[in-house]
Amino acid sequence: MDASSPLSLPRTVALVGLMGAGKSAIGKRLALRLGLPFIDADDEIERAAGCSIAEIFEKYGEADFRAGERRVIARLLDLTPHILSTGGGAYLHPETRALMRAKAVTVWLRAELDVLFDRVRRRGHRPLLRQGDPKEVLAQLMTQRYPIYAEADIIVDSTAQPADRTTDQVIAALRAYLQAEKARTPA
Ligand code: S3P
Repeated sequence: MDASSPLSLPRTVALVGLMGAGKSAIGKRLALRLGLPFIDADDEIERAAGCSIAEIFEKYGEADFRAGERRVIARLLDLTPHILSTGGGAYLHPETRALMRAKAVTVWLRAELDVLFDRVRRRGHRPLLRQGDPKEVLAQLMTQRYPIYAEADIIVDSTAQPADRTTDQVIAALRAYLQAEKARTPA
């Protein structure tokens, strides 16, 4: 399988990582390039709840949001292979993480604080970033979450380079991962 042959995905690719890591931007490009549907778990949660994530946090609190997130992601993981962008906290839940690891290839888009902050600072829709100084919140979340995101099958650095270049890197990493997986699997 050389780098120009089409990449066929045996299962969903789930993107994980902090807010601002580029899960939606890279996910949409990945879906186009691989000819697969793109699904944003946060959009699906909003659709199911009939209101925005900020409103869910305000009206019902974070715990209810997390319960809805778990249900929605479990449902999405049963669909045919697609590119799934998950909210930054989804992979933290042990059950959701186990499901994602069983039913999808997980890709952590790892980014440095300045890159994340630069991408999130102009948009105010994320409730967790309103709970204090956004850069400090992001730094704390990096400390808490990066060791857990590191359990993903594939890690790709999401830098300030154009999203198309990062998408190329994700595709190359997926190709290598699936090839190694195939080599491990008895015929
Ligand atoms: C969250 C990330 C958000 C959204 C919610 C909580 C988190 O998604 O799910 O605001 O806990 O990191 P994005 O990572 O897509 O911004």
